[in-house]
Amino acid sequence: MDTSGFYKLTPKERLGKIKEFCGLSEEECGVLSKSKIGLDLADKMIENVVGTLELPFGIATNFVINGKEYLIPMVIEESSVVAGASKAAKLSEGFVSEASESIMIGQILLIGVDFEKAKEKVEESKKEIIRKCNERKSSIIELGGGVKELEVKKLKTDKGQMVVLHFYIDVKDSMGANFVNTTLESIAPYLEDLIGGEIRMNILSNLSDRRMVKVKAVWKGEKIGKENVNNMLDAYEFAKHDPYRAATNNKGAMNGIDAVCIATGNDFRALEAGAHAYASKEASYTSMTRWEKKGEDLLGYLEMPLAVGIVGGYTNTNPITKIALKILGVKSAKELAEIIGAVGLANNFAAMYALVTEGIQKGHMRLHAKNVALNAGAKGEKIDKIAEQMIKEGKISELRAKEILHG
Ligand code: MEV
Repeated sequence: MDTSGFYKLTPKERLGKIKEFCGLSEEECGVLSKSKIGLDLADKMIENVVGTLELPFGIATNFVINGKEYLIPMVIEESSVVAGASKAAKLSEGFVSEASESIMIGQILLIGVDFEKAKEKVEESKKEIIRKCNERKSSIIELGGGVKELEVKKLKTDKGQMVVLHFYIDVKDSMGANFVNTTLESIAPYLEDLIGGEIRMNILSNLSDRRMVKVKAVWKGEKIGKENVNNMLDAYEFAKHDPYRAATNNKGAMNGIDAVCIATGNDFRALEAGAHAYASKEASYTSMTRWEKKGEDLLGYLEMPLAVGIVGGYTNTNPITKIALKILGVKSAKELAEIIGAVGLANNFAAMYALVTEGIQKGHMRLHAKNVALNAGAKGEKIDKIAEQMIKEGKISELRAKEILHG
């Protein structure tokens, strides 16, 4: 297929080309281009758009965070995540969650300059550098944000010593990636003149460990079963000491974190990167959450970098993410981070609880069976009927669903 100038076409024209080349039917093209947010908007977000993809938008219930009730929008394709979060929240005594200020880290890599010299120059002119960074016109700066501090770090590399400047930047209620990167790029020429050497790159760090959330919650032994408290502590030890298990354990927490992140139009890849980097800050990759027993109760803690925004970027261009924020009723990025952290802890609890009790598959099965029935071609009431029969028989497969469907 000749794709020259593909990017200049409209989504409809692009789809026309794809249709021909890939043999898509009229119906398939209709499904791909039927869009809730509209192809015009989608076409402004990314390149070469031909359609949009919808995901289920569910609401987790029973959450009380810092004494306030929340309904939590979650966007995810996996069954049991919304139910798991809601169940964990119901069994809990509520969540105490605290996010720090919205301080992001911006990094500038300097090559060919001595560390001591760079440090001296930066220390001498620190006030001026910060002033210059914050003199540009921006609503974030008007609200009191901008560069707050600056550090010079030495980096030993295979190509010799390099210098890294760390800018600590308050991005207020935004996620901050654009603000940080623009700030770094605009100060870079001045820094090169001041310090010498060569600036190789400017970019924010997704290990935003100055923008943290800390969550704590209690699950009473009498509610969740005293035996289960002990068993969940075994599960925690497993995740704490075995990176293979830690990865899966953390995936369970990220199920909830990403789902709220996607619903609110935030960058879940950034959160994933930060979360896993932070979970590796000790000698070995470990659990993002910590669990302990107090009396007969189970206490859960989650601590992670959590950079999310409620203004700027995609959050405000997508009409659906705006509705998600309205459902949450959040007033600040800090409040959103506090909610997301609580959901992460809840989903980790839900997974561990299921794993040490009935196992993970039973809960999944009802919805999974429905999906299988749907894929086999069942419609309407037949979906539930076929799903139920397959569960009863303990045989859930598309083949069996088709057999029941076609009698
Ligand atoms: C599945 O999406 C998540 C779990 O694997 C998490 C865990 O094992 O803790 C169930």
